Amino acid sequence: MTNMGHRLRVARIAFAVFALVAVLLTAPASSRAADRAERLLDKDIAARFSPRAYRRSPVAKAKLDAIFLAAHAAASAYGERPWRYLVATRREHPDAYEKLFSTLNEKNQAWVQRRPPVLILALYKQDYVNPKRPGPNTHAAHDLGMADATLALQAQKLGVSLRHTSGFDAAKAKALFAIPAGYEASSVIVLGYAASPRVLPAERRRKEQARRSRAPYANPPTLAETTFFGSWGRRGGEAVPNSP
Ligand SMILES: Cc1cc2nc3c(=O)[nH]c(=O)nc-3n(C[C@H](O)[C@H](O)[C@H](O)COP(=O)(O)O)c2cc1C
Repeated sequence: MTNMGHRLRVARIAFAVFALVAVLLTAPASSRAADRAERLLDKDIAARFSPRAYRRSPVAKAKLDAIFLAAHAAASAYGERPWRYLVATRREHPDAYEKLFSTLNEKNQAWVQRRPPVLILALYKQDYVNPKRPGPNTHAAHDLGMADATLALQAQKLGVSLRHTSGFDAAKAKALFAIPAGYEASSVIVLGYAASPRVLPAERRRKEQARRSRAPYANPPTLAETTFFGSWGRRGGEAVPNSP
């Protein structure tokens, strides 16, 4: 290699290193934090979201079984498993499905109107089952949440999506399904295969298309507001004044 060729090569490498450093330094902090979150998070956890648009195709029974088995595997106070799920598939239980649909508020009915394949009433048992622990199970709602989160991840692994709705008439749902006393209805879960937002009515479509505007991992308050290390208001070793 000539002297000139060598110099050119060194200059090119120096330029590439300079460009890389410049990109790293000038990349917005938000995108760096997003990249970091991407590296740290399990890809299924990162990819999970709650669509409003679903295909009408049914979800195979084996997949539903796996999803509810996942709920069964969730942790719960004293292992009580206070969660209960009442499942209505559009094909096998059309009456129950329509009853559950009728409990949704107007806003939720607007995006569920294409009738995705599965609606689920999620409930929890208010008192402990074990007679040694009389009185209310103060962690029943917490434990339903544990089960919900676990089944959502199993669903995600199977390519199945879901969206919770607390916008529903719980009293009506309990009456329509003759739910015994001692159980509270917490949400209706809409479950199926995610579809393009194009299938939604115009106004809902816009919302759905904006859905990835979820508070980004990069947004400093996201973790600062929810996760402290060592003491209240302390994130990553650095005190945050006036934490809510
Ligand atoms: C308990 C609960 C109730 C919810 N209720 C509704 C609802 O009534 N209608 C709705 O469209 N979304 C509802 N959602 C969905 C949330 O709005 C959604 O999970 C949140 O915006 C975060 O979006 P992501 O799940 O895609 O990350 C509910 C979620 C949960 C966990």
